[in-house]
Amino acid sequence: MQTDQIIQGVTSGIHQQPDGKSWLLVTEYSTYALGVSEEGLLLQLYWGARLPLGTDIAAARLPRERSSQDVALTLAPEVYPVMGGLRYGEIAAQAVFSDGTRDIDLRFASAEIGEKQGLPELRLHLRDAAYPLEVTLSYRVDSKNDLIIRAASFHNLGDEEILLERAFSAAWHLPQQFSSRRLTTLAGHWAGESRVQQQPIVAGSVQIESRKGVTGSTAYPWFAIDTQATEQQGEVYFGTIAWSGNWNLRISTRITGETTIAGGIHEHDFAWVLAGKQSFTTPDFVAGFAEDGFNGGRHRLHNYVRQHVLPQPQASQPRPVLYNSWEATTFDVSEEGQSKLAEHAAALGVELFVVDDGWFPARNHDHAGLGDWRVDPQKFPNGLQPLVDRVHGLGMQFGIWVEPEMVNPDSDLYRAHPDWIYHFPTRSRSEARNQLVLNVGRQDVQEYLIDLLDKLIGDHGVDFIKWDMNRPISEPGWPEYVAAGHNAREIWVRHVEGVYTIMDTLRARHPNLSIESCASGGSRADLGILERTDQVWSSDNTHPDARLFIQEGISHILPGRVMGDWVTDTPSDRVQNEIPLTYRFHVAMMGMLGIGGHLLHWSEEDLAEARRWIAVYKQIRPLVQDGDQYWLISPSATAGDWAAVESVAPDASEAVVFVYRRTNPFWETTPRLRLQGLTPNSTYRVQLMGQPDAEPQQYSGASLMHQGIALPLSRSSYASCILHLQKVS
Ligand code: GLA
Repeated sequence: MQTDQIIQGVTSGIHQQPDGKSWLLVTEYSTYALGVSEEGLLLQLYWGARLPLGTDIAAARLPRERSSQDVALTLAPEVYPVMGGLRYGEIAAQAVFSDGTRDIDLRFASAEIGEKQGLPELRLHLRDAAYPLEVTLSYRVDSKNDLIIRAASFHNLGDEEILLERAFSAAWHLPQQFSSRRLTTLAGHWAGESRVQQQPIVAGSVQIESRKGVTGSTAYPWFAIDTQATEQQGEVYFGTIAWSGNWNLRISTRITGETTIAGGIHEHDFAWVLAGKQSFTTPDFVAGFAEDGFNGGRHRLHNYVRQHVLPQPQASQPRPVLYNSWEATTFDVSEEGQSKLAEHAAALGVELFVVDDGWFPARNHDHAGLGDWRVDPQKFPNGLQPLVDRVHGLGMQFGIWVEPEMVNPDSDLYRAHPDWIYHFPTRSRSEARNQLVLNVGRQDVQEYLIDLLDKLIGDHGVDFIKWDMNRPISEPGWPEYVAAGHNAREIWVRHVEGVYTIMDTLRARHPNLSIESCASGGSRADLGILERTDQVWSSDNTHPDARLFIQEGISHILPGRVMGDWVTDTPSDRVQNEIPLTYRFHVAMMGMLGIGGHLLHWSEEDLAEARRWIAVYKQIRPLVQDGDQYWLISPSATAGDWAAVESVAPDASEAVVFVYRRTNPFWETTPRLRLQGLTPNSTYRVQLMGQPDAEPQQYSGASLMHQGIALPLSRSSYASCILHLQKVS
């Protein structure tokens, strides 16, 4: 079968060849092509820069077998390779049929084009040759953002159980490339999340993963592959898995230069029993192609997150400036103390006041209380309402911290329901931060949490919850489930689905509620959780030196409106104290600005400065939260000495530029900074923010982009500035 009948001069969207056996997914700048081979196998035919003609795509044919050791099926770029037959490359699915057969043989059955969640969708149905298993591959196309969103659904059309042992979302193939291919990932740990890592790709496999039951910070479920791209230019393939549990992303390259990326829910300890007539659908794997470097990848994912992932109407509203009391008061919360902080925060222009941990009974340390989501009568003798009313009266929203998936052994909940946590009866229950994980796959646990949280939110008029998750899952047993004949290896998926269900239910009941995703900082920052949360707490580490790296990394996936950044007093070592408050504000203003310092201890001078920067932030907020973000100078590339980030309005009428220089030991003159994304022939007025006396300057967009702009930075350490550009003609 040839694909040369495909409509010529293709426009963006999904195009099907008249015989219904090959397809072009065309976006503004990319083409992805796939087709059915003679054998009924679905092969990827192309993925990369947009091709002008359908005839540019080759026919779907299995590659020639090199030898009996290098067989065609292993070499074939199958869009969804399964464990079965002579396949030894990356595998996307594995199953065991009721008769013990551990071999899948999927052939193309039919296709249809429809729509899902506002995007055109191609659905390809594959059938097993001998068993009643159908797999539907979904391809949604976000043409404007050059993204393809894939997922797979398994349908058991028969009555006998089918055991799924691996169910990835997708496999992708890159054009053959022999050398200089590079992999970028985001790695870290608690208080050091999302740092950019780059490594050459050589023959072999690289795996990034989480097996903790939560997205994790050891790695983020994101990759980028380029050859010689910079932030500004060059081809970059990138992708991310929208899942908040165990995930696995495998990148394999052959010595002959073919690279395959496969990923989805981790196969580690995974099982899903597909009962008769039941279906199982994987999370989305979102991937894209950019010719305009890593910033091009950022713009596409940021737009997608804003337009298709984040909950509405919150995603269309500015994210408020936040105050969080954790670092100021830790567990020592009281109506009076929090009210005083709230008054100070409101006077600065804060719009959302969040009471963190410590407000519920026995929570004077991290050894007790989790699970008992009632207001502590000792700390709040009049209940929570007077504080909520005070915060509302000050014109702010009220937020509160919860950690619903957790329980301390020292809690009423655990004493009443010791069976509600993951455990194996013969094993001890490993504690981390003195806590255990509730089995939120259980419906009774979900109902309990929904009921308590619903009351907390509804009874008090809570506008925002910070949903934390401070330890991984261990001893993943569920004895009652096993006793009832089920497979407890499902818990890894059921846990995530339970969390999603609780959040979705709360949001449906309280449409104005906002949720922050926190897991000891940024351990749950993925596109799955962002379908039901509005922002993430990027890291417990608020040191500006660390933050530049953390924020650079997270910005590969998340837009400014999602990335929570605070100005705090910690770590209160000498170095931090020497970092000017201005610099700390400038670093935090690049995302969703928050304050976490003890405002009662701030000097009048510091409070005045905070007021000034919060006012500036509100002025530039639409750009920071929703503009196209360009990293002009990467902290990773300058060992943290320099960073510069620009956010440009989609119509290029306005922009904001943040510049940071940590040290200047050689007293060098500040180089001119070349901007991006402006209209060359327009004139821009450039204003130094926070310094009303500074004379505005005017330059053409071309000059700002090619000649660059002189930076008004002092020669001292920790110098920073914010420039605001407005198009005047
Ligand atoms: C985690 C969070 C912090 C704070 C504490 C409270 O560490 O990341 O921001 O909420 O829990 O115990």
